[in-house]
Amino acid sequence: MRAIYPGSFDPITYGHIDIIKRASKVFDDFTVVLMNNLRKKPLFSVEERLYMIKESLKGMNVNVDIHEGLLVQYVEQNNVKIAIRGLRAVGDFEYEFEMALANREMCPSLEMIYFMTDIKYLFLSSSMVKEIAQFGGELKEWVPPVVEKKLREKFQKL
Ligand code: PNS
Repeated sequence: MRAIYPGSFDPITYGHIDIIKRASKVFDDFTVVLMNNLRKKPLFSVEERLYMIKESLKGMNVNVDIHEGLLVQYVEQNNVKIAIRGLRAVGDFEYEFEMALANREMCPSLEMIYFMTDIKYLFLSSSMVKEIAQFGGELKEWVPPVVEKKLREKFQKL
């Protein structure tokens, strides 16, 4: 069965990777799709984010793609029926619910499926790792080495 995992991955974290590992066992054709979230100003360019995703997922049975428009446009263009998202604490619910309802309104054939976070990553987010990186904190528990390197480079330059 086929599914996609859309997200802005700015940058990808071990929380995302945990979801990807679990979801790719459930869906044999699984694609991580890098999209833009207009509510967030990304730290990394699309190319940087794509590079980090591809490096972090090397050796895994997962496809990676990019899309610049609406999620529902990607879904329609690629005949996708299922999109997955990760869910952390209660705070994620309202945002996910709103997005799911808006997407369903635009594309009723799309079904969203949610994977609960591993408890280890309950409070982990891309924003949190950016903040830790900005102040020179420890990152190895939260992001792969390639992402840590990019974060260090980014904050050295800023
Ligand atoms: O990782 P994020 O930032 O929570 O992912 C959000 C994302 C990228 C899945 C969402 O912003 C999205 O679907 N963007 C594509 C544009 C779109 O369809 N926007 C309407 C969503 S209701």
